[in-house]
Amino acid sequence: MKEQKLLLIPGPSPVVDRILEALAQPTVSHISPQMEKELGGALENMKKIVFTTSGQPFIVAGAGTLAMEIALLNIVADQDRVLVLSQGYFGNRMAEICEAFDIKYHLLQSPWGRVVTAEELRTELKKHKYEIVVCTHVDTATGACAPVREYAEVIRQVAPEALFVVDGVCATGGIEERMDDWGIDVILTAAQKCLGAPPGLAIDVFSKRAMDKRRQLHRVKAYYADILRWLPVMENPNRYFSTPCVNEIRAFYEATRIVLEEGLDRRFERHDRLASVIRSGLSSLGFSIFTDETCLAATLSAVRYPEGLDDVSFRRKLYENGVVVAGGLGPVAGQVFRLGHMGNLTREQVIFAFDAIEKTLLNLGYAFTLGDGVETVRSLLVR
Ligand SMILES: Cc1ncc(COP(=O)(O)O)c(C=O)c1O
Repeated sequence: MKEQKLLLIPGPSPVVDRILEALAQPTVSHISPQMEKELGGALENMKKIVFTTSGQPFIVAGAGTLAMEIALLNIVADQDRVLVLSQGYFGNRMAEICEAFDIKYHLLQSPWGRVVTAEELRTELKKHKYEIVVCTHVDTATGACAPVREYAEVIRQVAPEALFVVDGVCATGGIEERMDDWGIDVILTAAQKCLGAPPGLAIDVFSKRAMDKRRQLHRVKAYYADILRWLPVMENPNRYFSTPCVNEIRAFYEATRIVLEEGLDRRFERHDRLASVIRSGLSSLGFSIFTDETCLAATLSAVRYPEGLDDVSFRRKLYENGVVVAGGLGPVAGQVFRLGHMGNLTREQVIFAFDAIEKTLLNLGYAFTLGDGVETVRSLLVR
């Protein structure tokens, strides 16, 4: 294994050589035939990745948080009310964005480690009228995966005129999101998680309904984040609004090709399988999972420490042993660590990770049976 740390934080995920090579290609003009092919190609690939034929994708320099602003600011009218469903840190960030732009909203939260149920959503939609409903598919702070398809069903039944926005930053490209079939109006995501590209791109896909809503809005509280300024570029990459991050787009185009080459069903299945194998390996070493069994995410795990293991020492030693994981956020800081298992993660990398975890437990004098973790994942991860 090359002398670099294995990134098992909840994004960025490990970037494979083929994508790094695309990133390292010469910087070309942003209105060149290469950009036309690669930005155009990445946009088409994104439509396939979220299962839409009529949706309009946007790929803009920025991060997932910009994608959140783009999603909201381009569909909210002054008098609109937004229902924000939250199961953690990033659901709450959507509420903060509403605050920042004086958008009327109501925050419906679940306890950390659980999700708002479809029935709780139904009850709320029966009580109040909302023009927009926003959810977080996977909240990276809690590892909880929301029932997006059920939410879409309830919205279609109880509030069919409401636009449905899904934050897929920690899900798109790793967990199924069927925009047209389920009736999702905006999917927002970023390059650096399940899509396996380096960070630096905000990605939004707008349904026809959402595009119509934008066109109805006389103006929006945005300039750079205004999709009608970017639309001509997305329709024809030879046009200019603001200089796109050329090399990042070259890398992202390659990343979307890798996703489609693997095949979406196979990729979703691989994320599911890796998630359960990794959790089995962790429990064989005495760790437990913080998130409720009913809403475990395929893309990351929030892992509770067993008695006697200190968060900072564990993560520091694991880093020395070649693997990077993330600490807990907010109320669970110090009690859990977050292990990302998304993107183009391989069997060999998972085995390497468990070898490093066992070395770390040994270094910290924690009592366990050496090899249990590695053998558990190796035996479950048949070639
Ligand atoms: C669910 C979710 N939404 C939004 C974001 C924000 O993305 P970024 O850090 O790229 O701004 C994150 C980042 O981890 C996330 O996990």
